Amino acid sequence: MQVHATIAEVRAARKAMGVQRIAVVPTMGNLHAGHISLMRQAREHADRVIATIFVNRLQFRPGEDFEKYPRTFAADCAQLEAAGVDHLFAPTEAEMYPQPQTYHVEPPAVQSNILDGEFRPGHFRGMATVVLKLLNITQPHVALFGKKDYQQLMVIRNMVADFNLPIQIIGGETVRAEDGLALSSRNGYLSAAERAEAPRLFQVLSRLVAAVRAGNLDYKQLEQEAMAQLQVHGWLPEYVALRKKLDLQFAPAHDSGLVVLAAARLGSTRLIDNLEV
Ligand code: PAF
Repeated sequence: MQVHATIAEVRAARKAMGVQRIAVVPTMGNLHAGHISLMRQAREHADRVIATIFVNRLQFRPGEDFEKYPRTFAADCAQLEAAGVDHLFAPTEAEMYPQPQTYHVEPPAVQSNILDGEFRPGHFRGMATVVLKLLNITQPHVALFGKKDYQQLMVIRNMVADFNLPIQIIGGETVRAEDGLALSSRNGYLSAAERAEAPRLFQVLSRLVAAVRAGNLDYKQLEQEAMAQLQVHGWLPEYVALRKKLDLQFAPAHDSGLVVLAAARLGSTRLIDNLEV
């Protein structure tokens, strides 16, 4: 695997790939099996796979975990090599933002101020801005993102469509631990007791999905019950919401393409998860 720290280097490598089909998998590092599954899917869609590792300050709010976000570069490189990734673009902050970023992608409020955006104002603006930069730098034919960040995937799909980028966006299925917990770099923040409790989020969402599939149409009540089930076990739920898969707006009863999304704090760790109905 070739590792590039500068935009000039990765652009030269990209140019040398000529007419080959290129996939990019943007990450913030601290890779786990979910990321590696995206790398392997990327290989199925392309001749050359580029991974990126960049912890993007713009998408963290003051007081969030930007400083303590796990940085595990050597271990990440070993995993990427083993997964057959061809190129890694791992820029410094000075390379990506040599001066403060003045132009930003401003996703529409209807997409970015709801759900996670309500609790992390500005997050999707910072995320979309860096993703647009990474796509411009690597110029892929296809880009892959995990469905665990369902709202992120929706914002990226809409951005790519709105800016007419000739890039296919693929969402990879969430990879889970044996007990159901969705893999996430932030799981590493959990204490042993919290880790034992954490699969409850998946269990609660699974029960809600089963209820909807069984014909329960009282979405508001199902959401409230799910929040209460978390609260009673010491969680601080931010939202549990049944929405339309396509745009994450409110879902009319009987709608077929639904997803339930949730964010909840367990101790000082914020976990998110979702399940398509
Ligand atoms: O999902 C992530 O890891 C990040 O939000 C992304 C897409 C790499 C942008 O920084």
